[in-house]
Parts: sequence; structure tokens; C-alpha cells
Amino acid sequence: MAVALVGGAGAEGRGLAVRLLEARQAVLIGSRDAERARAAAAEMNRAAGSRLAAGDTNEAVARDGEIVILAIPYAGLAEAADTLRPLMNGKVVVSTIVPLQFGQRGPHAVAVPEGSAAQRLQTLLPKARVVGAFHHLSAETLADVAQPVGTDVLVCGNDAEAKREVMDLAELFPGVRGIDAGPLESARYLEAFTALLLRINRRYKAHAGIRLTHLPESVSVAPR
Ligand SMILES: NC(=O)c1ccc[n+]([C@@H]2O[C@H](COP(=O)([O-])OP(=O)(O)OC[C@H]3O[C@@H](n4cnc5c(N)ncnc54)[C@H](OP(=O)(O)O)[C@@H]3O)[C@@H](O)[C@H]2O)c1
Repeated sequence: MAVALVGGAGAEGRGLAVRLLEARQAVLIGSRDAERARAAAAEMNRAAGSRLAAGDTNEAVARDGEIVILAIPYAGLAEAADTLRPLMNGKVVVSTIVPLQFGQRGPHAVAVPEGSAAQRLQTLLPKARVVGAFHHLSAETLADVAQPVGTDVLVCGNDAEAKREVMDLAELFPGVRGIDAGPLESARYLEAFTALLLRINRRYKAHAGIRLTHLPESVSVAPR
């Protein structure tokens, strides 16, 4: 199984890719520019001592990947969805996208008519199984492979099997627990919370993640 990363040569996509490679998971790095994607994949293979990364256009990797992760800015969502729509029928498509603006008082969530970027994506790709995840995992934490990731990853979606697949994927990362955060509608809270996390990170000059407490120990295997 290969995981496709649309926008995989960017900061968040690269971070997710290097952690997947660390877990010996094949990744397909996507970009609007195939050469940039190939160069990023070659660099990741060199760093990881692997041959499990390959690069191509966003369309090609989305077609070939079994799970497709969108790691592009909100501004590019509608155009990317238009290009990917015919390729996404029945696929698990993960939105990491956080619609944010940066004002004088810090980052704040941008209102999305559908409620969240993930719900907008589901509207734009009606036949895809859209899941929201990884909003609270910073690119910096992901890139620092000398350290475990060590956070919870809150995953939401309307398709239970798709959500389970993404929780399992997240749990390939060292120290990560996948948490079922409910239906896709929960994405509005996951996305907006990222603005708060960034404000905290700014204050402490840190890259804090999320760890929930007082959940049952079996939580990571609960909702199959
Ligand atoms: N950075 C983080 O710590 C972090 C954490 C959690 C979630 N996220 C979310 O992850 C997404 C990517 O964040 P990032 O920090 O990696 O951003 P980024 O580096 O600015 O962008 C990622 C990649 O998206 C592609 N891209 C840019 N504009 C595009 C457009 N209009 N249409 C299609 N593709 C476009 C570019 O790739 P090509 O030029 O190669 O096509 C770029 O390298 C965002 O939605 C962000 O909210 C980020």
C-alpha cells in the first residue's frame, strides 16, 4: 500500500512523509511540478536510506495511492479538488488543512461555509471517503526524527473503516495514539483549535502537540 501526499514537497507533507518512511511505509510525493516532487522524494530516500519514496504530479500520486493525504493550503483546496475529483471515487482522502489567517493578535480560524475545510472537501469530492486528521502535528515535530512524535492524533470522519485506516496510519508514528474524534463535522473544532495551539506555541516558542488524558487505556483500538 502506498500513501500519496498531495503537496508532499511542502513542510507538512514532507514531515508526514519522513515519518511514514521511518515506519517503512511507501510514500508517493505529489506536487504541481513533477520535477520538484521527484527531487523531494530522492532527498527523502537519501535521508532515510530507503527506496520507498517516489515523486510525481499531484494527479499521478493521487491516482496511485491507496490513501491520499492533502497537505496543501486552504487557498488551493477547490482547484486541487477539481483536478482530483475523477480519481477519488471510493478513496480515503485525508484533509490536514487548517483554514487560518494571521492577524495582529495572532492566527485565527477562517469561517468556511460548509463548517470546515474537511467538509468542504467532502462536498467537492462527494464520492471520496473524507477524513480529517493531523491538524495538530507540526511540521517541525514531524521533521525532528531524532525525537518521537509522542502526541495524540485526533481523527474525524463519517466512514468508520476509513477513519480506522487513518488512525492505524497515525499510529505508525512513534508515540502516537489515534483518537476517534467523531463525525466529519468535528473537523470544524479540530481545525479551529489549531489557531489556539499556534498562539500557545508562539508564547512558549514551542511546537506543542495534543495529548488527551483520562481516556480508557484501550482507546487506540476501540472503534473498529
Ligand atoms: N506546517 C504545519 O506545521 C502544519 C501542521 C498541521 C497542518 N498543516 C496544514 O497542512 C497544509 C500544508 O501546510 P504547509 O505548512 O506544508 O504549507 P506550504 O508548505 O505552504 O504548502 C504545501 C505545499 O502545497 C502546495 N501548494 C501551495 N499552494 C497551492 C495551491 N494554491 N494549490 C495546490 N497546491 C498548492 C505547494 O506544493 P507545490 O508547489 O510543490 O505544488 C506547497 O509546497 C495546510 O493546509 C496547513 O494548514 C500544516
